[in-house]
Amino acid sequence: MTNEAAFVQLTYDQLAQLGRSDLCCSPSDLYGPEELAALPKGVLSLSSGCGHPVEGADVRPGETVVDIGSGAGADCFLAGRLTGPAGRVVGVDPSPAMRARAEGHRDEVDMRWVSFVAGDASSLPLPDMFTDVVISNCVLSLAVDAAAAWREIARVLKPGGRFVVSDIVGGDPAAPPEEHLAAKARCESGLTWDEYRTILRGCGLHGLRLIRVGTATFRDGHRAQSVTIAGGDRTAGVHSVVLHHPGHGDAAAELAGLVAAACRDLDLRHTGYAHSRETAWSGRLIELLGGAGDAEDLTLVLNGAIALTAHATRLPPPQSIKEIVTEMSAR
Ligand SMILES: C[S@@+](CC[C@H](N)C(=O)[O-])C[C@H]1O[C@@H](n2cnc3c(N)ncnc32)[C@H](O)[C@@H]1O
Repeated sequence: MTNEAAFVQLTYDQLAQLGRSDLCCSPSDLYGPEELAALPKGVLSLSSGCGHPVEGADVRPGETVVDIGSGAGADCFLAGRLTGPAGRVVGVDPSPAMRARAEGHRDEVDMRWVSFVAGDASSLPLPDMFTDVVISNCVLSLAVDAAAAWREIARVLKPGGRFVVSDIVGGDPAAPPEEHLAAKARCESGLTWDEYRTILRGCGLHGLRLIRVGTATFRDGHRAQSVTIAGGDRTAGVHSVVLHHPGHGDAAAELAGLVAAACRDLDLRHTGYAHSRETAWSGRLIELLGGAGDAEDLTLVLNGAIALTAHATRLPPPQSIKEIVTEMSAR
C-alpha cells in the first residue's frame, strides 16, 4: 500500500473508531425524511457522502449493486431496500474499522443480502461483469489511481449495466503535497476538473451524463464542489436536466418548466433536475461536455449533452423545446 493510501485509510479508520464524522455532508442535506428514518443512528453519524447516487440509479428488485467506498453503509442499505432479498448489495471499503461498523449496522437493519468486503476502488475484488449497478459516494477522488478506479467500474458492470457516482471535484494543484493530501483525505478537495475530464474520456464507459452539480457543505461549514455523474444503460426519456444560469434564475425556471411540459406532452420519462448559478462552475461543465458555449449564457444540459445555450431574454418557443427534448431523449 502506498503512503497516500495508508494515510487515507487511517483517516477513515479513526473516524469509524470515533463513530462520528465531521466531514461532508450532513445526511439531512442528502436524504429524504423517510430515508433518514430508515437508517440506524450510527449510520447517520458516520455518513460522509456528497450526493445521493441511489436516487439516480433506478435500482430494481433482484438486482446486484456494488457500492465503492461504502463507509458506514448508508447507500448500501438504501439500495438494499430496493433490491430486496432476491438481490444483492456488496459494499467495498479498505478501512477495517469502517467495515466493522457497517456490518454492525447491517445486523441492525437485518438485511442479510447486504455484505461488506475489503478492497480498493482501483482493484475491486470482484469478477468481470459482476453487477447490474455501481454506485459510489464521495470516494473515487480518494483513490491513488483514480483513472484505474473508473476503469474498474467498466470492468465489473454487466453488459447493459449502469452507474451513478457522486464525487468532490476541484482540487488546488498548487497546494503543497502534504496539505493537498490532508484536504483530499477529508474530501475537502478532489481531482481537478482537468484531471477529471481526462479520466472520463479514457475510462471506457459510455452514455456519461451529469445528473447533479452543486456545493457540498461540511458539518463545520467548509464548502466544496460536488458532482454526480451517471452512465450506461437507460430507457428513453429525459433522465438528466442540468441548467446553468449565472444571474438568470427566472429564465432558468421558465426553461425548466418548458422542458417538463414538453416531456409531459410527449409522454416521456422526466427525472433528475439540478441547477448551478456559479459562472466558474458553468464554464468548467460546458468545457467538460466539450461545448463551446459562453459560461455567462443560460445553458441547458439534457442527458449529459449540451442541448441549448441561450440569452435569458431570448428563450426559444415551446415548440422548439419539444423538438430538442425529442432529439435528446433518444440519446
Ligand atoms: C467520504 S467517505 C464516504 C463513505 C460513504 N460512501 C458515505 O457516503 O457515507 C469515504 C469512504 O471511502 C473509503 N475509501 C477511501 N479510499 C478508498 C479507496 N481507494 N477505495 C475504496 N474506498 C475507499 C473510506 O474508507 C471511506 O469509508
